[in-house]
Amino acid sequence: MSDEPKLLDHSYDGIQEYDNPLPGWWSAGFWATIIFAFAYVALSPLLVSTPDQKYRAALADYTSKKERREIADAANVSEAILERGMHDPKVVDKGAAIFAVRCVSCHTADGHGLIGPNLTDLYQLHGSTRMDLFTTIRGGVLGTPMLAWGEQMPPTDVVAVATFAATLRGKNIPGKPPQGHLVEAFK
Ligand code: HEC
Repeated sequence: MSDEPKLLDHSYDGIQEYDNPLPGWWSAGFWATIIFAFAYVALSPLLVSTPDQKYRAALADYTSKKERREIADAANVSEAILERGMHDPKVVDKGAAIFAVRCVSCHTADGHGLIGPNLTDLYQLHGSTRMDLFTTIRGGVLGTPMLAWGEQMPPTDVVAVATFAATLRGKNIPGKPPQGHLVEAFK
């Protein structure tokens, strides 16, 4: 192949053109990009994660952090936290919503009791404090219909519903006769 440019035979309006070969570096680049494209498509599943995979990873991370935080929150529950919750409408409303779904069948909507004890009177079966209510709700009472609700709902829900249960104390709604021992009303 000579380096002499070859004049092509056609002519348009007297204009002729040379058949100049493409420079070697240019052709090499051209082929390199084609090979790269195939290699990239073939290997990309190994090299880069798809948005879907990234989303799943982020969600798993979020869920595990959330669970850890909730467990830590519930482990820190104290009389003071439950007392503060009783004055926080957000917590009480959340607890009321849970109570309306999970607890009404045995304690009735206003808490005056049916299968479960009256939660509105000044009598308590297990302990006397808000924490005792929380512990009973979380762990249940073995051998009775009262389930361990800690196994049925996230820890923060147990805290909320225990807080709500504490707000019922002292409403003295006539219902199931008193069970347990006399306790003081919560402030
Ligand atoms: C299937 C019926 C049933 C359901 C549903 C139920 N309970 Fe109970 N609950 C009982 C019974 C029965 C007892 C009394 C257990 C005993 O004899 O010690 C009780 C006891 C309690 C006590 C202890 C009261 C005390 O005087 O010490 C609390 C607080 C309580 N329940 C709250 C709840 C909450 C909150 C829910 C919903 C998350 C709930 N219960 C759902 C039947 C139920």
